[in-house]
Order: sequence, then structure tokens, then C-alpha cells
Amino acid sequence: MAAVTAILALAGMAAGATITTTEPALAAIKAAQATTVPETWSTNVTGKAFDRFYQIWLENVDYVNAANDTNQQWLASKGITLTNYYGTGHPSQPNYVASASGDNYGMDNDNFHDIPSNVSTLADLLNTKGISWGEYQQHMPFPGYQGYNYSNQVTYANDYMRKHNPLVSFDSISSNDTALRLIKNFTSFYDDLDNEVLPQWAFITPNMTNDAHDTNITYGSEWLRSFVEPLMNNTYFWDNTLLLLTFDETETYNVPESEVYADRNRVFSILLGGAVPDDLVGTKDETVYTHYSTIATISANWELPLPGSLGLWCQHHRSLPGPLSESDYSVYRASWPIPATNETCSAGYGILQAVKDTYSGMTPTYNYTAPFPYDAGYALDVGVSYSRNGTTYVSGINGTGVAVYDTSNGTASTSSSSAASSSAAATSGAGINMPALGSVAAVMAALVSFL
Ligand SMILES: *[C@@H]1O[C@H](CO)[C@@H](O)[C@H](O)[C@H]1NC(C)=O
Ligand SMILES: *[C@@H]1O[C@H](CO)[C@@H](O)[C@H](O)[C@H]1NC(C)=O
Ligand SMILES: *[C@@H]1O[C@H](CO)[C@@H](O)[C@H](O)[C@H]1NC(C)=O
Ligand SMILES: *[C@@H]1O[C@H](CO)[C@@H](O)[C@H](O)[C@H]1NC(C)=O
Ligand SMILES: *[C@@H]1O[C@H](CO)[C@@H](O)[C@H](O)[C@H]1NC(C)=O
Ligand SMILES: *[C@@H]1O[C@H](CO)[C@@H](O)[C@H](O)[C@H]1NC(C)=O
Ligand SMILES: *[C@@H]1O[C@H](CO)[C@@H](O)[C@H](O)[C@H]1NC(C)=O
Ligand SMILES: *[C@@H]1O[C@H](CO)[C@@H](O)[C@H](O)[C@H]1NC(C)=O
Ligand SMILES: *[C@@H]1O[C@H](CO)[C@@H](O)[C@H](O)[C@H]1NC(C)=O
Ligand SMILES: *[C@@H]1O[C@H](CO)[C@@H](O)[C@H](O)[C@H]1NC(C)=O
Ligand SMILES: *[C@@H]1O[C@H](CO)[C@@H](O)[C@H](O)[C@H]1NC(C)=O
Ligand SMILES: *[C@@H]1O[C@H](CO)[C@@H](O)[C@H](O)[C@H]1NC(C)=O
Repeated sequence: MAAVTAILALAGMAAGATITTTEPALAAIKAAQATTVPETWSTNVTGKAFDRFYQIWLENVDYVNAANDTNQQWLASKGITLTNYYGTGHPSQPNYVASASGDNYGMDNDNFHDIPSNVSTLADLLNTKGISWGEYQQHMPFPGYQGYNYSNQVTYANDYMRKHNPLVSFDSISSNDTALRLIKNFTSFYDDLDNEVLPQWAFITPNMTNDAHDTNITYGSEWLRSFVEPLMNNTYFWDNTLLLLTFDETETYNVPESEVYADRNRVFSILLGGAVPDDLVGTKDETVYTHYSTIATISANWELPLPGSLGLWCQHHRSLPGPLSESDYSVYRASWPIPATNETCSAGYGILQAVKDTYSGMTPTYNYTAPFPYDAGYALDVGVSYSRNGTTYVSGINGTGVAVYDTSNGTASTSSSSAASSSAAATSGAGINMPALGSVAAVMAALVSFL
């Protein structure tokens, strides 16, 4: 009953309502659908290397399997293949949340989360320069819908899922009626495309059939090409746009020990769009990137301060222990960390003023230069206790090995390790500073050295 009340409130005022951990009643959804009006926000703030940055993520495919797909190969031939791009966690949701705000707060699950309003997102950093943003979530029933899912109403198959929606879990978004209604579905994407009122940053999420989650790489890649190829001929969309095609995470969490660390959570990724210089079309970029690089990229391009919500943008581009963990693939810590607000960070544009104001005078939770002695092999801080199937391990003491990244070519050498540490590695991603997607233009390449 509480759920219905909440969603009816949403119909009149989209903001603020926390909905439910289950799918709301259809009647309530229909009522809100009838009255909730999409928000349109379009601007033209010129960037250094591109004027628009869009992402489309598919789901749960290992690098080698995606690289072997003919439609992925076709798309790659039109742009730059990123051969060392990594997911930042497992399962799905921590990856999406990480891409929105620079940390996953220890999240290691697909639960229903409301992230406190004092945690910033990339919307805050884009807002500092009035750069329009939005999301296009396929089959989301109405703009700003906050429910856990919305299934196909004929078959009841998985269709729209909140866990694949990067911004909706943040209270700073859901408490703002305008912001919430910038999160729209594909109907709005094509309306905004036709009306030439697209935002400058957008995240495009296909449904659970098209994103390969409930299907496979062949199906997902066919859908992806069918979505992207017509856009290539649309000069309004394509000119000065940088489009990232990637996957949230690998299908295989626990990579066999025989495989190099570099393959753990490595996802096949492509940069496309009119912003890609002609001489880079068909090339490969072997720089190590992660989902966090997408935030570094917009910071570098538009000279934006970073959300720094929890300061991770400075030196520490990997997961720290956090309150959203169930201690399955991450490490639980009850408190929300205090960001390091004095850092310059990433391309040198510092931390959002709002974050500095919020945390003024407070001592950062971590030494963000070296929060803990660090086990480079498994991207986990030494001395962190974590459990797998009821067995407790402490990184750097047991259950870890030593592997060292070579950031120039992504290869790694490994020594002793265990099955437990493999999943720790997959959870945390690369423990190095994440560069912007830098080979797009000379100016971007120059910025990489600041990161
Ligand atoms: C952005 O530029 C396009 C093309 O010049 C123009 O049609 C459009 O009105 C501009 N939009 C805004 C919000 O200034
Ligand atoms: C690669 O794709 C081809 C079809 O294009 C398929 O026959 C082959 O089995 C795939 N190889 C692997 C290793 O998946
Ligand atoms: C998409 O959102 C619009 C409102 O913006 C709504 O009318 C439409 O029914 C939605 N589409 C789907 C498939 O739910
Ligand atoms: C996902 O979207 C496609 C259209 O792109 C549609 O054919 C399919 O039925 C949708 N999946 C579900 C489960 O509704
Ligand atoms: C609400 O969100 C919009 C879009 O991000 C932003 O322009 C506006 O400043 C926000 N309002 C408040 C009160 O934060
Ligand atoms: C891939 O998924 C589609 C849609 O579910 C299905 O028709 C096809 O048989 C699947 N292919 C393989 C190789 O499983
Ligand atoms: C795009 O344009 C090219 C040539 O200009 C044409 O060959 C191709 O069929 C077009 N693609 C689509 C999807 O319209
Ligand atoms: C941040 O810098 C200011 C001015 O340099 C200094 O007073 C303050 O102690 C610093 N805060 C932290 C947490 O380092
Ligand atoms: C953070 O830790 C590193 C390594 O122990 C140390 O060199 C550095 O001085 C520390 N920074 C601060 C601000 O305490
Ligand atoms: C944990 O337990 C489950 C079920 O017993 C098993 O399938 C899985 O392989 C175990 N995982 C690890 C890392 O030992
Ligand atoms: C790892 O070391 C910690 C601390 O000494 C200990 O409590 C734990 O039981 C050890 N775990 C294993 C699997 O040996
Ligand atoms: C990658 O770097 C490592 C360490 O510097 C080196 O041993 C290896 O030969 C390099 N691999 C390639 C393919 O360049």
C-alpha cells in the first residue's frame, strides 16, 4: 500500500518519492505515465575534443567473446578499440553507479539503493557550466520512474531495470523534479533527436533483451549496430559527438589463475562518433581505462571540477570499503567517507565547490594518496578483511598475490594467489589513476599526463 501511495504522489510531483523495492502496481504506473511530462534540456557548450559525450552499455560479456562478434568488429572498424578498458565491480549496479559519481561506495549487489543527497554526481559537475545532460532508458514507463523494474506487460519478461540506470539511485537527482524528468525513455530519445534538442551528456540503456543480459552477445551486438548505424548518417547527432560503446562487466567473475590479471573484468570497448579524428578510425588504444575514465573524460573536455564526492577522483580510482556492501564482492564499512576536498584531481580542475562547502573543516576518511598500504596485485588495500563463502581473508596477509600493471601495454605478471583473491581483483578493477579517454584528439592526449 505504501508503494501505491508513493507512486501516486509521484504522478503529481515526480521529486522526492522513494518508491519500492518491488515493481509498483500497474495502475499506479499508468496514472503517473499519463501526467508526467518529460523535461528537455539542450545546450551548446563547446568542449576541447567533443561537444557531446554519450555512452551505451551492453551487459555481462567477456572481452574475447565480444571481440569475436562480427557486429562488434564492424562497429570497431568505424572507431577506436579500447583494448584495456575495465569494469569497476560486480555485479551490474556498482558499475553504473561508479560511472555516475566516481565510486560505488562498496556496492557489491543489485539491491534497491537511495544514495544520500550529499553525494554528488556528474550531473553536479556538468551543471557548473550549464552543460545539458540526460538519460535514455529503454521502456522506462515515464520520465523519472524510480521503481525497481518495469517488466514487459504482456510476457512479464525483464525489460527496464533500475540497476542499469546510473543516476536514478542518487537522492540529489530524485529530490529534484527537473533532474528526475531528464531521465526518459527511447521515445524521448527519438523525439529529442528529431527536434534537435539532445543533451550534451547522455547515458543510453537498452532493455534486458537488447543489452545481451537475457540474450547473448550476438543478439545484443545486432541490436547495438541497428541502433548506432542510422545515427552515423545523422549529422546533427554525429558531428562532434564522442560515443562510447562498452559493457558493464564481464560474464566471468573468477578468471582462472592461469590468465593474467589484465583480463579480469576487461570489457570490449569502442569509441565512435564524429569527434574521433579520421586518422584514428580503425586504430587501437591500449591505455588502461575504467568506467571512472568516463568522468575524467568530461572533466578534461569541459574543464570541470570533479564530483569528488568521496574524493576518489584524486589518486584512488578503485573501490574502497563502503556502506553499500553486503561483503560479497566488496568490504563493508558503515560510514560514508569524508572526501578529500583539498585535492586538485584528475585534469587539475579540483573538487566541486558544493562538495568543499559540505565537507568544510572535516578530516577526510582516507589518505587518498595511499589510503592503505596497497596490494597492487589485486587492487585491494593491505589489511582489508573480506569474506568469501564464510571464510575470512585479509588482503596482503592471505588470499592475495602480487601482480603489477604495465599501464603502457596492459600486460601483467602474476605470482602466488588464490581463488578468493581473484574475485577481489575483479571487484576492484585497476588500482591506478584513471585517464580520460585520451587518444581522441591531441589536446586530450596531453591531458592524460595530468591524471
Ligand atoms: C545549438 O546550436 C544549434 C545549431 O547551431 C542551434 O540550432 C540550437 O538552437 C542551439 N541550441 C541552443 C540551446 O543554443
Ligand atoms: C567466433 O565467432 C564465430 C562466428 O562468427 C564462431 O563460429 C566461433 O565459434 C567464435 N569463436 C569463439 C572462440 O567464440
Ligand atoms: C515512454 O515515456 C513516455 C512518456 O514520456 C510514455 O508515454 C511512454 O508510454 C513510455 N514508453 C514505454 C514503452 O513505456
Ligand atoms: C526490448 O525492446 C525490444 C525493442 O527494441 C522489444 O522487441 C523487446 O520485446 C523488449 N524486451 C522486452 C522483454 O520487453
Ligand atoms: C535541479 O536539476 C537541474 C538540472 O540538473 C538543475 O539545473 C537545478 O539547478 C537543480 N535544482 C536544484 C534546486 O538543485
Ligand atoms: C541468442 O539469443 C537469441 C535471442 O534470445 C536466440 O534466438 C539465439 O538462439 C541465441 N543464440 C545463441 C547462440 O544462444
Ligand atoms: C549511410 O550513408 C551511407 C552513404 O552515405 C549509405 O551507404 C548507408 O546505407 C547509410 N546508412 C544508413 C543506416 O542509412
Ligand atoms: C585544506 O587546505 C586549507 C588551506 O590550505 C587548510 O587550512 C586545511 O587544513 C586543509 N584541509 C585538509 C583536510 O587538509
Ligand atoms: C599518505 O600516505 C602516504 C604513504 O604512506 C604518505 O607518503 C603521505 O604523506 C600521506 N599523506 C597524508 C596527507 O597523510
Ligand atoms: C561459494 O559457494 C558456492 C556454493 O557452494 C560455490 O558455487 C562457489 O563456487 C563458492 N565460491 C567460492 C569463491 O569459493
Ligand atoms: C587470513 O588471516 C587472518 C588474519 O590473520 C585470519 O583471521 C584468517 O582466518 C586467515 N584466513 C585464511 C583463509 O587463512
Ligand atoms: C609489455 O610490458 C612488459 C613490461 O614492461 C614487457 O615485458 C612486455 O614485453 C610488453 N609487451 C608488449 C606486447 O609490448
